[in-house]
Amino acid sequence: MHKAPSHIAVLTSGGDAPGMNAAIRAVVRSAVYYEKKVTGVYNGYEGLIDGNYEELNSRSVKYILNQGGTFLKSARSQRFRTTEGRKEAYSKMSAAGIDALIVIGGDGSFTGAKIFSEEYNVQIIGVPGTIDNDLYGTDFTIGYDTASNTAIECIDKIRDTASSHDRLFLVEVMGRDSGFIALRSAIASGALEVIMPENNLTFDQLYQAIEKAGKNKKFSNIIVVAEGNKLGNIFEIADHLKTKFSHLDIKVTILGHLQRGGSPTVFDRVLASKLGVAAVEGLLIGRSNVMAGIMNNQVIYTPFEEAITRRAYINPELIRINKILTI
Ligand code: F6P
Repeated sequence: MHKAPSHIAVLTSGGDAPGMNAAIRAVVRSAVYYEKKVTGVYNGYEGLIDGNYEELNSRSVKYILNQGGTFLKSARSQRFRTTEGRKEAYSKMSAAGIDALIVIGGDGSFTGAKIFSEEYNVQIIGVPGTIDNDLYGTDFTIGYDTASNTAIECIDKIRDTASSHDRLFLVEVMGRDSGFIALRSAIASGALEVIMPENNLTFDQLYQAIEKAGKNKKFSNIIVVAEGNKLGNIFEIADHLKTKFSHLDIKVTILGHLQRGGSPTVFDRVLASKLGVAAVEGLLIGRSNVMAGIMNNQVIYTPFEEAITRRAYINPELIRINKILTI
């Protein structure tokens, strides 16, 4: 256990996520509330190494609650993967009098945080900020809800044109190693199938679903494809389907980074606010090397080790529901 810190730094790292600004605001305001000094670190771990710091106060974070992106900027730092990089980071933050760190990011960011925390005994708490929702120890990560809503807004539009032309669309959504966005947006948009790492869908199953849709006179269809699926690249999947169903007009749309932007939903703003406060309060009670999360409406602290190595739970019930509803 660490003693309560006096000077907390906050940074955002890895892929940005809508709601990261809301989380920074919550960290800054709760640090001020508990009369701690608080510093923002620009450019993630890159800025930690370079000493790119700015002291923040409650006014520094006004009007950012509703903004997408992260005003502290983010990076995937290669230098922080090296012992020299981490040594420099420790020396810079110690010189600035920073004695605790809050890292808002995903699994890559927490892997770095874990190593750094163990190497230098730095007090660190993580806040799950990634659209992928792929962290163990929290029911939801910040940004996932907004990204899913963005995805279905786009898929709804694709549905209009798919229906006008009786086309089959394959729509790729983000999720490097997970199908959370894919499954949720498939259910919410009435997609015929979802191809994601967790359901091990085969081409035969896909063919059957398309044949069944044809028999049921379902002439326009959406198949949601998670980028991290194991069946293959979306264009290769489309080629397979074009060979098998030469009479179908098949199109591919990749939603890409637009899922990472936009104003956070109410859900993400509230989640980010809760987790920002939980991170600061965790530091005050001496917690370290853990991620703050919310499970069943309760704040919990999960060791980084578990958060990054255990698999986030995808509810099989949702897969079952999707099967029933796409008949
Ligand atoms: O981890 C979030 C995420 O958006 C993934 O879904 C995606 O695979 C990856 O980041 C893309 O990373 P980048 O923005 O560096 O291309």
